[in-house]
This record gives sequence, structure tokens and C-alpha cells, in this order.
Amino acid sequence: MPSFQRVLVIIPTFNELENIEIVCGRLRQAVPSADVLIVDDNSPDGTGRLADQLAETDSQIHVLHRQAKKGLGAAYLAGFNWGLKRGYEALVEMDADGSHQPEQLPRLLEALDGADMVKGSRYVPGGSVVNWPKSRELLSRGGSWWIRLMMGMPLADVTGGFNAFRAETLLAIVDDITSVGYNFQVDLTWQVKSRGLTVVEVPITFVERERGQSKMSTAIVIEALLKTTAWGLRYRVTQAVVWWKKRFGGSVGTV
Ligand code: GDD
Ligand code: MN
Repeated sequence: MPSFQRVLVIIPTFNELENIEIVCGRLRQAVPSADVLIVDDNSPDGTGRLADQLAETDSQIHVLHRQAKKGLGAAYLAGFNWGLKRGYEALVEMDADGSHQPEQLPRLLEALDGADMVKGSRYVPGGSVVNWPKSRELLSRGGSWWIRLMMGMPLADVTGGFNAFRAETLLAIVDDITSVGYNFQVDLTWQVKSRGLTVVEVPITFVERERGQSKMSTAIVIEALLKTTAWGLRYRVTQAVVWWKKRFGGSVGTV
């Protein structure tokens, strides 16, 4: 078993009434020592009220209520800050809809023993996607390909959302995260990598939700495309300047 004593699993929710109890039950069974924080953005379907009921009967389940839907990234940042303040040693991101298997969490935590961040990865050997429409898989694989190309990130599944962090890693990056949508996952990974910290990918099985709806939107894709392109260009220009200086001496100013 992993060496972390205090683990917090953060689950953001927006309209996950049919899913939240099931995923919490599976998680509490799979890793009984881990605490759970549900971060609900005032879901109209009453997910927040059900979360409160779950917390009443289980002292390891906590709920953070936010006023309105402000995006996955904003919800996670609030959750991270909640957990960091309370001294958790490892913090985990997990979707509420059953796409991430709580039974695979021990795998992530074990890998975190030897890394600063662990990404659950659909696209390394042993990883897989179940029941996703071809179009969505193409978008996801294409996104990872684009980020590898632009930002030179040698990871198979950059946009994945089943991630584990050491507290120190989050403390080092949390104030520099600017993405609000699903690009938040890329942002976290990029910030960790650019500090020279280690990111390890472990295979996971991503199973498309059976109940409720995805909150993926065009705005989310546009944010990801704009941000990764800007970061990528900056990265490539910096690389070119460094190469130029090495080749021709320091006559181009500092970067
Ligand atoms: N609190 C809150 N606020 N929760 C949100 C919000 C929000 O604005 N938007 C989404 N969520 C929650 C959902 O309720 C769910 O628990 C989780 O975030 C993931 O949302 P989905 O809408 O189910 O995401 P997906 O299945 O389309 O996308 C998954 O794959 C992406 C690409 O790999 C997620 O794992 C993403 O994080 C990932 O980037
Ligand atoms: Mn989902």
C-alpha cells in the first residue's frame, strides 16, 4: 500500500444526482482511508443536497458548496485550497460520473510514491477508453497530439482528469493556474513539468458515463486550443532563442 497517510479525493459535481452516491460508495470501499471532498456548483438537480446527506452519515465525506457553475478548473482550485489548508499529503482529482474507476486509485497512489504528479492515462499500454463515440476519442487523442507537438510534452494523455498530486507539488503551482475549463488538466501538467517536477503516467480504463450528461462544450475546446497554442508558441520561441544564443553568442538579449 502507498505510504501517504492523508489522502483527499476531490470530486467536482454539476448535476450528478444519479452518480454521486454510487461513485462515493465505490471509492470508500476501494480506498477506505481516503477522505472525499465533493465540490458542487449549486447543481439545480439537487446533487449538493444529496452530497450533504452522504456527509452526514460518513465523517470522511465533506462537501464544498459554491454559488454557481464556474467551471471544472475553478471548482478544483477551491477543492485543492480546502485540502491544502487541512494538511492532506496527497490530493486526487476524480470525475463523479464513473468514468474514472475508484478501484484503480491505489495504482495512482502507489506511483505517487516515486513522482510529483501521477496522471491516469488512457493512451499508454494497458490504458483504454470504453464506450466513447469515435468523434470524442479523436478530439481527445488529437488534443494530446497537438499539445505534444506544440509544447513538447512527452505524455500520451495530457488532457486526462484522473490525477494525483503530492501536496508540495500543488503548493508550488496552484497560484499560477489560469484555465477554467477542461484545459485546467493541461495547465496543471504544464506547470508541474515546467518546474522540472516529475509526471508519471499509469494506465487507466476510462468508461463513458452511463447516466447524466457531459458538460463538455465548444467554449471548453476553444479555451484549450487558444491557451495551448499560446503556451506552445512561447515555448518554441524560447527554445529558438536559446539555440540561437548557443550557436551565435549572447547578442539577442535575455529571455
Ligand atoms: N463543480 C463543477 N463545476 N463540476 C463540473 C463542472 C463545473 O463547472 N463542469 C464539469 N464538472 C464535473 C462533472 O460533474 C463531472 O464530475 C466532472 O466534472 C467531469 O465532467 P464531464 O462533463 O463528465 O467530463 P467529460 O467526461 O466530458 O470529460 C472528461 O474527460 C476530459 C478529457 O479527457 C473529464 O475527465 C475531463 O476532466 C477531461 O479533461
Ligand atoms: Mn464524464
